[in-house]
Amino acid sequence: MEFLDLPQLLSAAGTVRLPGSKSISNRVLLLAALADGETEVRDLLASDDTERMLDALQALGIGVTHLGGENWKIVGCGGAFPVKQAELFLGNAGTAFRPLTAALALAGGDYVLKGVARMHERPIGDLVDGLRQLGADVSYLGNEGYPPLHLKPATIRPDGVVSVRGDVSSQFLTGLLMALPLTGQTVAVDVVGELISKPYIEITLATMARFGVVVERDGWQRFTVRAGSRYVSPGTVYVEGDASSASYFLALGAIGGGPVRVEGVGRDSIQGDVKFAEALAQMGAIIETGPNWMTACAPQGGLIAVDLDCNHIPDAAMTLATAALFAKGTTTLRNIASWRVKETDRIAAMATELRKIGAVVEEGADFIKITPSTARPAAIDTYDDHRMAMCFSLAAFATPLRINDPKCVAKTFPDYFERFATVTRAAPVIAIDGPSASGKGSVAARVAAALGFAYLDSGALYRLTALAAQRAGIAWDDEAGVAAIAAGLDVVFTGEDIRLAGVLVGDAIRTEDISAGASKVAALPAVREALLFRQRVFNTLPGLVGDGRDMGSVIFPRAVLKVFLTATAEARAERRYKQLIEKGFSANLPDLLADLQQRDARDSQRSVAPLRQEADARLLETTQLTIEQAVKQVLDWYSEASS
Ligand code: C5P
Repeated sequence: MEFLDLPQLLSAAGTVRLPGSKSISNRVLLLAALADGETEVRDLLASDDTERMLDALQALGIGVTHLGGENWKIVGCGGAFPVKQAELFLGNAGTAFRPLTAALALAGGDYVLKGVARMHERPIGDLVDGLRQLGADVSYLGNEGYPPLHLKPATIRPDGVVSVRGDVSSQFLTGLLMALPLTGQTVAVDVVGELISKPYIEITLATMARFGVVVERDGWQRFTVRAGSRYVSPGTVYVEGDASSASYFLALGAIGGGPVRVEGVGRDSIQGDVKFAEALAQMGAIIETGPNWMTACAPQGGLIAVDLDCNHIPDAAMTLATAALFAKGTTTLRNIASWRVKETDRIAAMATELRKIGAVVEEGADFIKITPSTARPAAIDTYDDHRMAMCFSLAAFATPLRINDPKCVAKTFPDYFERFATVTRAAPVIAIDGPSASGKGSVAARVAAALGFAYLDSGALYRLTALAAQRAGIAWDDEAGVAAIAAGLDVVFTGEDIRLAGVLVGDAIRTEDISAGASKVAALPAVREALLFRQRVFNTLPGLVGDGRDMGSVIFPRAVLKVFLTATAEARAERRYKQLIEKGFSANLPDLLADLQQRDARDSQRSVAPLRQEADARLLETTQLTIEQAVKQVLDWYSEASS
């Protein structure tokens, strides 16, 4: 399982040019395919969902040419797909599946439409019922009411009225409306039940109009497409930036200070999700909007909880759920039943994952209530749902966390986490490494104290693992056994005290025996892997000084300062000798020196996390320095690096 570990965040500011809107992209592609003439589509979203649509259109014989970048040329078929028989795989792309179902059911060919397992759990019966009222021949290949579907040629009834439910997914109405010009008839669609997600219907109507088909409408009750309506290419179409994607960055600005500016959507957008900015403003965020941009800043006193009907912003409302972690009070998001039939059951998923990081959550059939509480690190599951992954990136302002399967963002925003990194600043890390007895531990602890930062002695974790394994009767070379021990270490650091299963072990982990054991278990890759997240959760505010082998390379590669602290073997042997004598132990200098030299050789030659100065680490040679001088040098470098 792939994962991405996020450190606790300090602030957010910057500008993001948004990727194209998923909703607009897939509507434009389908209408360009159905239209007379060629369409140049600019700024198309590059993502899984649009790829599924492009693949499907190609399979149906549509001319699709990539012009480079985000620009494509689509050669329209004038309402008649050249390929009359095809089996299409549409992944988990609802914005491809629903409209293609409607268009192909009325296209006079023989088609099979399939998706991933989750797609086969997402209802489509209401759309199929509507299509059947027009005379379409649609059958279910699996469960009644769900994909996969088989569509066959059929005679379309003249001048009909179709009823379609509006309260499960607005995509049914969207699919029907976009397909109706293919009937050549005048058809009216009556919406049964309350129409949800109305702003998506606005996008549908606006996109159809761009391709020359004007839908007559009577409020949100009845929509009529007249006989003779034909799609005609407008030549070039620019796809707006994705307003749902904008929500994450606006929320980052509202939580992390800002200003964060998004470009590609604004006041003039046809996407309802731009209303998310108003919801954020109700939480206290300072929002500014221009024709095609928006900015968000945090309010002086922090965000405040809201009680909102989110029917008009179903996707962006998910972002409010994680923003609620930073709002004073209980946030209630209502009228969000459609969350339950999306990429996953989003109400259940959101509740489960928010609870993992300590929030108090209440869920109902169509609402969720969130009250923040002390946050704790956790590994967040994302349920193959891009929005779960993106929403939970905000939670990193509360605690370091792990996002499982972060690549699921590819559905709508493949480079989300790269953009996220460019507008956020993490709690700083100073990483210090060096050979045995170089004094890196003492320097690191003093630097941490001077800055008020936390201190991570990563060697202690390997020592604790060796001790815990010994106590559990697990051999130090039993990789899986020791890794399990490492993963489950019950350890609490308080100041100088280290407790293992409640018992003080500060001295027990410093014996020669355990030193040897630590060195052995530290060479096992599975043990290092098991201790990875445990170390990364130390990356909290206001900052961290970490000492140990792979601090700056593997654990905290983005450390603001990396130091390789060393001294000659003779100087180190002498320091260790003095230490031992002071503690009243007997010691022999030549033996200590030989021992250190052997250990240096072993540490630099081992294949797993060998001892070496990383290319981006600064060398601190301390043979001639006092510890105070070494500490001062690190502090000077840090203030240089962080200014
Ligand atoms: O620094 P200390 O002597 O406490 O480390 C104990 C053992 O753990 C050593 O053998 C060291 O090489 C190993 N270690 C490691 N990676 C770290 C810290 C320590 O392999 N990050």
